[in-house]
Amino acid sequence: MSEGRAVGDLVVGVLGGTGAQGRGLAVRLAAAGQRVLLGSRDADRAAEVAATVTERSSAAAGGVETSVQGGSNTDVAGAADLVIVAVPYAGHADTLAELASPLAGKVVVDCVVPMGWDELGAYVLDVPDGSVCQQAAALLPDSFVVGAFHHLSAVTLEDLSLPTLDGDVLVVGDVREATDLVQALAGRLPGMRGVYAGRLRNARQVEALTINLVSVNRRYKAHAGIRVTDV
Ligand SMILES: NC(=O)c1ccc[n+]([C@@H]2O[C@H](COP(=O)([O-])OP(=O)(O)OC[C@H]3O[C@@H](n4cnc5c(N)ncnc54)[C@H](OP(=O)(O)O)[C@@H]3O)[C@@H](O)[C@H]2O)c1
Repeated sequence: MSEGRAVGDLVVGVLGGTGAQGRGLAVRLAAAGQRVLLGSRDADRAAEVAATVTERSSAAAGGVETSVQGGSNTDVAGAADLVIVAVPYAGHADTLAELASPLAGKVVVDCVVPMGWDELGAYVLDVPDGSVCQQAAALLPDSFVVGAFHHLSAVTLEDLSLPTLDGDVLVVGDVREATDLVQALAGRLPGMRGVYAGRLRNARQVEALTINLVSVNRRYKAHAGIRVTDV
């Protein structure tokens, strides 16, 4: 699990990194000096998006060269030290089922929200394992699955006219070293802080809370996040 290495030295992979959330996390982490690998089902698409993210993160870092490269999800899972899962819930199980081997021994950060829409708005989907994070843990028995980054809006992450973000990242997981590492990674996002929020069995509430934030956003035309007080 990357023991003894400073979080800033880790290569962070993003599965589904061509989407809004993956791109947003990638551009902010790269601007903070993190080496990032963007994954896609299509390596060419990943390379195209990685070039854009490199340009934008470098500009955000004041012209400092940043490191963002693209590849297939499989190659990224194998090459990265820590991997963020940012694919839609509909593709989550199939994506991870094929990656148990390259992800073995690594911290896998899941930010996937099981969200449905109907005429009443957003609602939480029932996940047979209890939560998407627990589904990841079941599919990746040799990885250290941590839940985080659910409550960050992709729009805000990608809006580099905002030099700092505002909010906390709730981090859930069963292995202290892994949650500590992900808290430290969250702290690399400008203005953000990682806050431990319980074991993986508590991921369901963290995932579902995102749907309340989506409802806030619709009503107030906002990109709401959360802040934990007295910590
Ligand atoms: N958007 C937000 O503000 C936000 C906030 C918090 C959490 N999240 C969570 O982050 C995840 C990604 O969100 P997003 O808005 O970036 O989603 P997205 O754009 O719909 O999907 C992200 C990427 O996943 C890949 N993908 C699409 N369908 C797939 C499938 N069936 N199997 C495997 N890969 C697939 C696509 O990349 P390729 O086609 O290049 O493979 C796509 O670019 C979601 O689970 C969401 O719940 C999003």
